[in-house]
Amino acid sequence: MKPQRIVVLISGRGSNMAAVARACADEGWPAEVAAVIADRPEAAGLAWARDHGLHTDVVDFRRHGGDRAAFGAALAEAIDAQAPDLVLLAGFMRILTPDFVARYEGRLMNVHPSLLPAFTGLHTHRRALEAGVKWAGATVHFVTAELDHGPIVLQAAVPVRPDDDEASLAERVLAQEHRIVPRAVRWFVHGRLRLDGGAVRQLDGEPQAVVAE
Ligand code: GAR
Repeated sequence: MKPQRIVVLISGRGSNMAAVARACADEGWPAEVAAVIADRPEAAGLAWARDHGLHTDVVDFRRHGGDRAAFGAALAEAIDAQAPDLVLLAGFMRILTPDFVARYEGRLMNVHPSLLPAFTGLHTHRRALEAGVKWAGATVHFVTAELDHGPIVLQAAVPVRPDDDEASLAERVLAQEHRIVPRAVRWFVHGRLRLDGGAVRQLDGEPQAVVAE
């Protein structure tokens, strides 16, 4: 069988992208990271990707003068050149147009650092602490046109400690992201996910909810 082609979109550090690339190689998935595409040339994850022999590309948001449709079209062109089976948003900090989302329906996944549908958007950890929630976490989901919404593949819950600040909470949530993002992608490339209306079912009955140890 032809390996599944994964395109990963990043804006910064790229640690989730690296976790996926490592798991793909170490666990011998029937898949490859075909390309890592960033919306800014200075995204640190690009260097990691290049150093690990991955193909990289940049579609610079600033070159499109804030025109989201034009940026989306250029991005889609770069993605389609890779003929991906899955497009993974791994710390990709751009709002995508409905047209863009529709183009990749069912094969566009995102990781968000909260227990969705709580705390969509930015500054999730700060807002979680301000709200006094006792559980934080991260969500991997299929992307729909509504920001940080869509069928949930997998969630990890992280207890909030009384002495947590934004940085300490972010660090513990990120460690869970590194567990659940590769797991969700592995399920996808092995064809183990089924969309049932608005819900995602893991066909082997593997847990789609994990709790931080
Ligand atoms: C991750 O925490 C990811 O959940 C978050 O950005 C970080 C990227 O880290 N994404 C969002 O906030 C998207 N709404 P990484 O570049 O090291 O993977």
